[in-house]
Amino acid sequence: MKLYHNPASPFVRKVRVVALECGVADQLQLEEIALTPVSTPDTLQADNPLGKIPSLVLDNGQCLYDSRVICEYLDTEFKGGLIPATGDARWQALRLQATADGFCDAAVLVRYEGFVRPEDKQWSGWIDGQLNKCRRALDVLESESSTFGDRCDIGTLSVAIALEYFDFRNADEQWRKKAPSLAAWYEAFSQRKSLQQTKPA
Ligand code: BEZ
Repeated sequence: MKLYHNPASPFVRKVRVVALECGVADQLQLEEIALTPVSTPDTLQADNPLGKIPSLVLDNGQCLYDSRVICEYLDTEFKGGLIPATGDARWQALRLQATADGFCDAAVLVRYEGFVRPEDKQWSGWIDGQLNKCRRALDVLESESSTFGDRCDIGTLSVAIALEYFDFRNADEQWRKKAPSLAAWYEAFSQRKSLQQTKPA
């Protein structure tokens, strides 16, 4: 399977973490690409019309995207047990994943606003609006972190990845000061091998 990737992307990282947790990381052939929302290599566009990563080309030639679909594919096909099939556990895990993914969406938009958009067109109100989404999500994660325990599922993995991306691109936010319980959980959970092996460069 070929995975279009960039080591900085938290969504790619989620796929790589899930592949490690499922024991199939060695089946991923990583194809690193540079991209922005306004420039995507033709090779990627040929496989995914949206030109986004992660995109996973299966051995039968079909290309799967986005990260949620790819993670569900890996978990289902390789029996990772990271996405509970039914009941409260399922909805808790998927809701947590949605919170973490939305957090990453907002943080990535902040990154693009500063890195891709020409300086004279940048809008501080946009950046503040996106950062406020991250801050509100952090408040919710802090209040729910006592329920995480040692649960390892698509929700808790996604949260750990989102927090590390925030450290990577928005260290000045110092989120640990406002979320001490979440920070304590993260400190222990982030020692997992799959997370250690995929840290952003
Ligand atoms: C980043 O550099 O932060 C980044 C790169 C690719 C996708 C998302 C984020």
